[in-house]
Amino acid sequence: MASSKLARLVIRGGTVITASSNQLADVLVEDRVVAAVTATGSDLSRNFSEAADRVLDATGRYVIPGGVDVHTHMEMPFGETYTSDTFETGTRAAIWGGTTTIVDFAIQSHGASLQDGLETWSRKAAGNCATDYGFHMVLTDVNESTLREMDQLVEQGVTSFKMFMAYPGVFYSTDGQILAAMQRAAGNGALIQMHAENGIAIDRLVTEALARGDVSPRFHGSTRPAALEGEATHRAIQLARVSGSPLYIVHLSAEEALAEVLDARDRGQSVFAETCPHYLFLTQHEMARDGFDGAKFVCSPPLRSHDDQNALWRGLVTDDLSVVATDHCPFCFKEQKELGRGDFSKIPNGVPGVEHRMDLLYQGVLQGKLTLSRWVEVTATAPARMFGLYPQKGSLQPGADADIVIYDPRTQATISAETHHMSIDYSCYEGMTVMGQVETVLLRGSVVLDKRQYVGTPSGRFIARGLCQYAR
Ligand code: URP
Ligand code: ZN
Ligand code: ZN
Repeated sequence: MASSKLARLVIRGGTVITASSNQLADVLVEDRVVAAVTATGSDLSRNFSEAADRVLDATGRYVIPGGVDVHTHMEMPFGETYTSDTFETGTRAAIWGGTTTIVDFAIQSHGASLQDGLETWSRKAAGNCATDYGFHMVLTDVNESTLREMDQLVEQGVTSFKMFMAYPGVFYSTDGQILAAMQRAAGNGALIQMHAENGIAIDRLVTEALARGDVSPRFHGSTRPAALEGEATHRAIQLARVSGSPLYIVHLSAEEALAEVLDARDRGQSVFAETCPHYLFLTQHEMARDGFDGAKFVCSPPLRSHDDQNALWRGLVTDDLSVVATDHCPFCFKEQKELGRGDFSKIPNGVPGVEHRMDLLYQGVLQGKLTLSRWVEVTATAPARMFGLYPQKGSLQPGADADIVIYDPRTQATISAETHHMSIDYSCYEGMTVMGQVETVLLRGSVVLDKRQYVGTPSGRFIARGLCQYAR
């Protein structure tokens, strides 16, 4: 496509799906933003097409806003190693999967400032991303200076802060530190994101299991019971209530935790939650696979039961779960997951997924669990609203960035590490057949995936985010 300022492109004849509508329409793109969404073949579309640099035929396809994945860990340090996707490889895989914006987690090192953490992550991402990107900040060292810095980060467009009730001695914050950060957030409008698992109790269970000789991957699951996710979720909600700040629970996996979110929302508290594809499609049985294979599925919170899975799908329908994000945190099986052979507590926590979120959730549509609009809402529109990116991202309304996916609902594909684009030697969904496939992707009006040919460049931009648009 010509890169002149007024470059025009038309996506013709597709079914345009947004969080609130579903219509046969043409999408007109001009100067990198959506200019109009208009009835197929309308005069406006015809006139526009005559002067267009390019017309893409989307007949028989869905046309949806680019996916927004608000939970990724590219190039994240873990001990002596790093997650296996760099910003370059991970965001390229995201494009293959129809995601055009990620929000990754910058991490504050102990004893260092938030600004240092942000600069480190900005250096890793700048000039390397195929998608647009933003950052959350992980608070690991809450003190008076950190609290003051939170205001500054909000001004810089880093408007959400993740805290951990798990991982004592690494990321863990005390209830007092959490309350202090929430009080600050109540003042500056930031959103506190919580990893809600009772890490102190979990560490005790881990020590006991290892002492018994229970060292294989499945004990990762049994030492992180749903009750301790439910308890931490309850506590986080009460701390948010006392501080008057909104709260977002990341990677919610258990029905017990969801029940706490539901109660809080029924009381009128601004509490929101995300779940992840692996909790919707995989269960704890994967961790009990023969040999060490279960390590491929070790993440925190751990995979849960079928009943939990059913509750999560219900939560997506009722909107008690607002967002599906991947928590893409890839560690190769060979050499990285291997670090925990003989001691499950040393298995790097996390699973890959940035490439398959849109496809997996589309299976939920085919299974009658989600409507097409809800599919778009939980994967693009709601995450954009939650994290202050809307309507620039997550929408197809005039003026929005022309981040657009043409999705072919009739192509069947098989997920495999042999063919995926993430830099990791296994897939959690190896051999799974999915119906529907991302065909073409536009990032700010430029075609970056053209009928399954990657033609993008690392032209992704940092997006300074606004405040959460759901919080009261
Ligand atoms: O196991 C997980 N989820 N790893 C990534 C880090 C986190 O807690 O999100
Ligand atoms: Zn977490
Ligand atoms: Zn994570």
